[in-house]
Amino acid sequence: MKSEKNRFFFKGSEEKITEDAAALVIAEAQKAIERSGRFSLVLAGGNSPRPLYQKLAREFSANPSLAEKTWFFWGDERCTPADHPDSNYRMAKESLLVPSGIPEDHIFRMPASKTDTAEAAREYEALIRTFFLAAAPLSTKNFPEFDLILLGMGEDGHTASLFADNPEALHEKKQWVVALNTQQGKPPGERLTLTLPVINSARNILFYLIGKEKGKLAEKIFLGSEKSVPASLVEPRNGKLFWFSAQQ
Ligand code: 6PG
Repeated sequence: MKSEKNRFFFKGSEEKITEDAAALVIAEAQKAIERSGRFSLVLAGGNSPRPLYQKLAREFSANPSLAEKTWFFWGDERCTPADHPDSNYRMAKESLLVPSGIPEDHIFRMPASKTDTAEAAREYEALIRTFFLAAAPLSTKNFPEFDLILLGMGEDGHTASLFADNPEALHEKKQWVVALNTQQGKPPGERLTLTLPVINSARNILFYLIGKEKGKLAEKIFLGSEKSVPASLVEPRNGKLFWFSAQQ
């Protein structure tokens, strides 16, 4: 493990980083629940997180008191129906939410089936605002402080649905959620994503990466020699940043 101030890099087998990343999520859940009575967790999309979600499902099933105080959000979503094979919601539902019996009212899917994607982004921002307002006053200049945001990364260095081919979304400074259309994504097309000000307001950010190319890029970002890709702009203002990378 390498570490700098509030920045940590873990490299190992898929099994090891899955074990350690899950342990960190559970530890942060316990801390958040002790501190505020609840744990706000933002899930990553793509395929990589599946083993992590399966491990977390086992942990939440073994600790129902944690599960009942955890609230699930998404960092981004493809604009597809909830049961579409490309849906980030569907992957998390299958691998984590259903196996751990998370109640529906703790699951906040992005409204990605709406045809008006700009309205969908506004709707999700309003939902997040209501969730955080319920706990404490939130002036408009502040951003929500999620307890933990899980992120993946593409080999091109995109994260969530923040892509180099969408500088407007990537450099958004005010909105919490934006809609965009990317040709760089796999799949390409309409997306919803949290913006960097929201991501960087989190108490903890955890990148979970599987693959050699991603691992090499992640190390360059961690060491500061890569500063141009979207993932290199993930810099928590007051929180901690963890990289978990399986490179074989
Ligand atoms: C998405 C994701 C995206 C993902 C990376 C890696 O909706 O596409 O949120 O940021 O994490 O593209 O995806 P894989 O894990 O499938 O490689």
